Parts: sequence; C-alpha cells; structure tokens
Amino acid sequence: MPEIKINKFMDLTTSFAGFKLKNPIIAGSSGMTDSVEKIISLENAGASAVIVKSLFEEEIIYEMEEQKHSMSGRFFVYPETFDYMEEEPEEDSVRKYLRLLKEAKESVSIPVIASINCVSSQKWTYFASEIEKTGVDALELNAFILPSDFHRTGAENEKLYFEIIQEVKKHTNLPLILKISFYFSNLAQMIVKLSETGIKGITLFNRFYSPDFDIDNLSIIPSYVLSTPEDLPISLRWIGIMSGRVKCDLAASTGVHDGKALIKQLLAGANAVQLASTLYHHGPEYISVVLGELKQWMEYHEFNSIDDFRGKLSFSKAHDPAAYERVQFMKNFRKFRR
Ligand SMILES: Cc1cc2nc3c(=O)[nH]c(=O)nc-3n(C[C@H](O)[C@H](O)[C@H](O)COP(=O)(O)O)c2cc1C
Repeated sequence: MPEIKINKFMDLTTSFAGFKLKNPIIAGSSGMTDSVEKIISLENAGASAVIVKSLFEEEIIYEMEEQKHSMSGRFFVYPETFDYMEEEPEEDSVRKYLRLLKEAKESVSIPVIASINCVSSQKWTYFASEIEKTGVDALELNAFILPSDFHRTGAENEKLYFEIIQEVKKHTNLPLILKISFYFSNLAQMIVKLSETGIKGITLFNRFYSPDFDIDNLSIIPSYVLSTPEDLPISLRWIGIMSGRVKCDLAASTGVHDGKALIKQLLAGANAVQLASTLYHHGPEYISVVLGELKQWMEYHEFNSIDDFRGKLSFSKAHDPAAYERVQFMKNFRKFRR
C-alpha cells in the first residue's frame, strides 16, 4: 500500500463495554501494565484503555517459586505468574494492587480496568467491592478453569463461569468483562450464554503458556511466553464467528502484533483489540505505529470511521461465509503442495 496523506478528521472511536474509546487499542493485562509509570506511558503512547496486571485468586506465587526452575508436575501455567515470581505473599499483594489501581486511576484519563485471575467463585469475590472503591472503570475476570480435572464434568466446569459472574455481581456494579480460553466443547453456544449474563464484554482469548521439553536434560521447561503473529488465526476466527451474535461487546486478544492484525480483527467484528506481547517486543510507543497503519489503511480504502468497516468480514456479514467453514479447509488442503 503506498504511503498516503491522512485525513485529519478520521474517526477512530469505538465502543467497548460501555465506554467510548478514542481508538480500538487497549493495553492488555500483563507486566506492561503493572505500574503507574507504565500505565501513564501507555496512555501517552495512544492506548485507549488499560487493563491492569491481574491479581491472582490464590497463592499461586509461592507454589510457582518452589517450582520455577523445575516446572515439574505442571502441565499449563499462566504466563502472568512469571511476572509475580519475585513478589510477596498474597495479603501484601492485594493491598499493593488496590493502591496501584487507585493511583493509576488518578493518573490517567483513559479507562482503567482491573483484572482478577480466578479459578473459582469462592472467597475472593468480595475483592470486587474493594476494587470498585479504588475508582477504576471496570473489572476483567480472567477466568480459566482448566479442563484437566479428571473428576469434573464439562457441565460442571462450564457452570463455574456462570457462578463466578453471579458471585462477583453480588459485590460490585462495575462493568464486567470476561476473558476466556477456547477450551470449551461447544464454544459458540457458551460465548452466547455468557454474553447473556449481563457482562459488558468478552475477551477472546487468553493465551496459555504451555510446557516444553528439554530433551538433553530430560526435563520440563517453560516454552516461550510471548505470542507470535502466527497465533492470530484462532481469535480471528472466533471473533468473526461470534460478532453480531452476542449480547455484549467483544475484544480480541492473542497474536495482534501490528496494524494489519488490528485491521483484521476489526473486519472480523471486534469492538476493541488488546495488545500484550507486541508491547513487550517494541515498547508502548509502538501503539502509535499500529494506529498509524490503521489510519493509512482507512484512508486508502476511504473509510472515515471504524464503524464503516467493522464486521465486514464477519461470518454473518461476509459475502463468502463458507470461507469460515470446513469446505474451504478441504479445498485448500487438497490443493496444498510443497
Ligand atoms: C508476560 C505476560 C504476562 C501476562 N499477564 C497477564 C495477566 O496478569 N492477566 C491477564 O489476564 N493476562 C495476562 N497475560 C495475557 C495477555 O493479556 C494476553 O491475553 C496474551 O498474552 C495474548 O495476547 P498477545 O498475543 O497480545 O500477547 C500475560 C501475557 C504475558 C505475555
């Protein structure tokens, strides 16, 4: 695409979870959002909202510390636990977290969204009211019930998500955003049902850190924690399938590393897009580069606002929805030659 002059009245605003955001780029929850200074620099770089680093439901930190070199016995770990391995016990972390939220909220004018990484609807849910008192704008629940418990049925696992939402809602009026994985037997129906619970947004998807094997030392080691651009297709597919079919907004997460990926997610129908790994690679200032690519592309295609093209390639609006389907898959695999 040739370099072109940008129409200065271009409208990049989007709505997500009840907010009017100045553009679709949200800084996703990660170590890049774990201090007031970083949050200020993300705002200065152009982020339209920030999701603060998650607070964990349980005392996973110490357990992780014990295991950080061997990783044995763990089949999946949240990447976020790595950021916490040098930190203090939960009680202190909780106090520190509430202070961080309050100070972040006082320091920036973009929406500040808290985040809790949870695996149950027990005990911790009262924290939602403490979080609300800090003045933050919303709460993202990074709920992941790993379907690796041999004694729990799929239905029991799924019920837990609804219980978490129900319990948290008892303690706060903050807009809730649910961040999920794709480990569901009937993902489409699950996302629709979750969207009908009164939550304001769903983030598709969290990214799991998977184990790797050191074949020289015969041990289990952490694999690379950051995503790559090749990780985009899963969330792109599901944003595309679900947009226009849910009762809340959708944010895309995982594999968005540049302006092209951002544009793709918007074409799929995302209301907003979260960045994490690419901010680790390039720093917060990269947000303005990604926004620049979006503006160039919009100018080239003569789109004046995000709404002019959002969802154009979603399953429900695309001219060729079959491109999402098995038939396309079969066609492409038959033709594929080395
Ligand atoms: C080092 C690291 C720490 C993260 N910490 C959190 C976290 O605390 N809470 C959370 O919800 N997601 C966390 N994530 C996941 C990101 O928010 C994001 O969903 C995921 O990395 C996929 O997006 P990306 O491809 O832009 O990295 C973390 C990711 C990384 C790489």
